[in-house]
Amino acid sequence: MPDPPLRKPTEPLPSAAAIAAALGVRSIVLIGMMGAGKSSIGRRLAKKLDLSFVDADSEIELAAGMPITDIFENHGEDYFRAGEARVIARLLDQGPQVLATGGGAFINPGTRDLIGAKGISVWLKAEPDVLLRRIKRRSDRPLLRTADPEATLNRLIEQRYPVYAVADLTVHSRDVPHEVIVDEIIAAIAAWLGLGATAAQGSAP
Ligand code: S3P
Repeated sequence: MPDPPLRKPTEPLPSAAAIAAALGVRSIVLIGMMGAGKSSIGRRLAKKLDLSFVDADSEIELAAGMPITDIFENHGEDYFRAGEARVIARLLDQGPQVLATGGGAFINPGTRDLIGAKGISVWLKAEPDVLLRRIKRRSDRPLLRTADPEATLNRLIEQRYPVYAVADLTVHSRDVPHEVIVDEIIAAIAAWLGLGATAAQGSAP
């Protein structure tokens, strides 16, 4: 499916207040692979929209009292996935907010349905080489602690991209300043919410 058309960068974006009002209690839910930038972009997006930012992985770690690597090591992936589904279900009742989810969260059909009911899903879609470059910088992703992380990443991409593609919106995550992606997400959300650009971002007194 082609990416949705975006507003021209010069076109003013609707104000944070207009977007918040149209969102109601729905959350903006960022989905996509490890390294797509969900947390770093999500934090900036929330700031720009005056919404709170919640990182599902951090909340899972808080609930479990241990880092994700330890959850995988001590209890296994199934245990992690069950906790992930529970935590995200709870967080989705706390909208409006920007919620960044771990790369596997949207693959769970129950979680996907809940996100559909209580949020607007935005897939941060990145090219494999961009993801690979980014994930090489960190070693805290248990799924990629394999003999050939690149092959593992490609296998996950193959399995997951068709599922991510059902997200409400897709925004291309790439190596440009975060603010560019943030504005593209806001433009896509505004269009999806049917908002005009009458109350322009930053132009209100
Ligand atoms: C996972 C992604 C991680 C984390 C866990 C599993 C995945 O989150 O939830 O290691 O299945 O892709 P990020 O996508 O934020 O790295």
